[in-house]
Amino acid sequence: MPLDIIVGAQWGDEGKGRVVDLFSAKADYVARYNGGGNAGHTVTLREKTFKLHLIPSGVIHSHTVGAVGNGVVVNPATLISEIDSLRQAGVEINPERLCLSYAAHMITPGHRALDGAQELDRGQAAIGTTLRGIGPAYADKVTRSGIRLGDMLDLEKFSGVLEAHILSVNQRLTGLYGAEPLDPKAVVKEYIEWAVQLKPYIKDVSLLLENGLKQGRLVLAEGAQGTLLDLDHGTYPFVTSSYPTAAGALMGLGLGVGNVERVVGVTKAFQTRVGAGPFPSEVSGEIALRLRGTGQNPWDEFGTTTGRPRRVGWLDMVLLRYAVRINGLTELAITKLDILTGLECVKICVAYRREGQVLENLRFGPADIDNCEPVYEELPAWRDDLRSVRSWEKLPGPARAYILRIEDLSGVPVRLVSVGPERDQVVEFG
Ligand code: GDP
Ligand code: IMO
Ligand code: MG
Repeated sequence: MPLDIIVGAQWGDEGKGRVVDLFSAKADYVARYNGGGNAGHTVTLREKTFKLHLIPSGVIHSHTVGAVGNGVVVNPATLISEIDSLRQAGVEINPERLCLSYAAHMITPGHRALDGAQELDRGQAAIGTTLRGIGPAYADKVTRSGIRLGDMLDLEKFSGVLEAHILSVNQRLTGLYGAEPLDPKAVVKEYIEWAVQLKPYIKDVSLLLENGLKQGRLVLAEGAQGTLLDLDHGTYPFVTSSYPTAAGALMGLGLGVGNVERVVGVTKAFQTRVGAGPFPSEVSGEIALRLRGTGQNPWDEFGTTTGRPRRVGWLDMVLLRYAVRINGLTELAITKLDILTGLECVKICVAYRREGQVLENLRFGPADIDNCEPVYEELPAWRDDLRSVRSWEKLPGPARAYILRIEDLSGVPVRLVSVGPERDQVVEFG
């Protein structure tokens, strides 16, 4: 059996957790390959809502094995509290069900403090990070001064490395940013306790998944963030510091290209973004309120991790076409179609206008969308509540026309449309 990759096709929060949960019904392994506690993936099962930051969304199904790959950066505090809350909600988590890559890097209080200090220092040019220490942890990885989960296996050595790391961070915090230093001894004490707890979970994730694939098992790779937040392929510098794109799954899990079968791009039926950066099809006023919601519903557009209101806009097909290309998407899963019910019309951005020219594709990738004005196509809307629809035929005509237009403009089939946050609120076809 193959490797299927679920990847965010926009700026994150597309509903990947919800889609991964659906695909996990048939998967044996579900593996997170990038990002860290900046992610917030929601799975809704009637009375229970799970918000996952590090552990793959697929573990809600009791038959799966979850894995956290080498491409992820792990804050042990976040991980342990997530294990606890999953257990409290009745999800069994033990070292047979959850494996952590020895090569995944660790987030420390030093990285979190640096993230905050660097954002403050950027002033008007702040990225709007989640302040979870993501950028500084990946920076240490790249400069080969990071600490990996595997380092926790030798407690004595780990204590020394961690203390030296905090001392080095303190130099930067006080010297560069005028911030308060951290207490290295206190950090070491806390991390040693967590190391003891996490030790049994640390494995060779690449080998585990490779063996599974050889035995005919289905591995599902769960991306965090989205294509437009990719360090190389996103709206740089307003991006995260990892590789959410499909290639990141292979690198972040240690698996070969030949295993890949499906690459599923998850996109909302409209567009959102949280944090700073360009967003050509962004809307404001009444229509923004309609798309965002007021925060009354759990699915309204407020960040799962930080609670920040998300910026909203119309679906941008220039960027979605780009996501198809960069990830080699084989299909699309569209979420939140139900939110468009009751609008006067539905707009879709089919091209950009800049300096008198109409651009259907990007010249220099999405970092080059400043000053682009969207060219919209207007489609008729619908009034029917979609939340109880379970088949293509039962979708109202204008909703079907909207989906077909997305297929047409993206060049890939839509295999799934989600019409609510619950597991069964979905229309599957193809
Ligand atoms: P992720 O980061 O990509 O996993 O997405 P988030 O969980 O951060 O945000 C998606 C939000 O939309 C969550 O609150 C989901 O429960 C909700 N959601 C997902 N699909 C649908 C849908 O089809 N309709 C509605 N109304 N909500 C949805
Ligand atoms: P999921 O997996 C949406 C955004 C932040 C900020 C930028 C950099 O739930 O889709 P970082 O803390 O990563 O250095 O912040 O990336 N961001 C996300 N936006 N969904 C996410 O994750 C995100 N993770 C990071 O808002 O703009
Ligand atoms: Mg999210």
